[in-house]
Amino acid sequence: MTKKDYLDQIIQGDCEKVLEDLPDNSIDLIFTSPPYADQRTKTYGGINPNHYVDWFLPKAAQFKRVLKPTGTFILNIKERVVDGERHTYVIDLIIKMREQGWLWTEGYIWHKKNSQIEKR
Ligand SMILES: C[S@@+](CC[C@H](N)C(=O)[O-])C[C@H]1O[C@@H](n2cnc3c(N)ncnc32)[C@H](O)[C@@H]1O
Repeated sequence: MTKKDYLDQIIQGDCEKVLEDLPDNSIDLIFTSPPYADQRTKTYGGINPNHYVDWFLPKAAQFKRVLKPTGTFILNIKERVVDGERHTYVIDLIIKMREQGWLWTEGYIWHKKNSQIEKR
């Protein structure tokens, strides 16, 4: 895929497949909001929290390949409560992504105006 094929384009598809066609070190910013494990299975399916890291790591490897060394990767994700406890899949993912060479630099809070809590 040449630059004109993906510049200013919306390319729909399985991100792992789409990323395969993108050249190394070609992207400045990746902002992704993957499924929060299996929190919305009725809406768009989901991934069991216990399998989430294995599901995401191949994608993370592709993100790292296409991202420029000066690039930024923003992951919009949230733990999910399982059996009364926050599941650690997000923390586990950060640790595994660091093993891939990612630098974990910051966390942020998405203050959603339309969240359930706001309505109470
Ligand atoms: C948390 S939602 C984010 C949706 C969108 N960003 C939004 O704000 O409405 C996660 C999205 O990831 C999509 N998704 C799941 N697996 C994917 C994959 N392998 N490649 C591309 N998108 C995927 C789901 O279909 C779902 O729309």
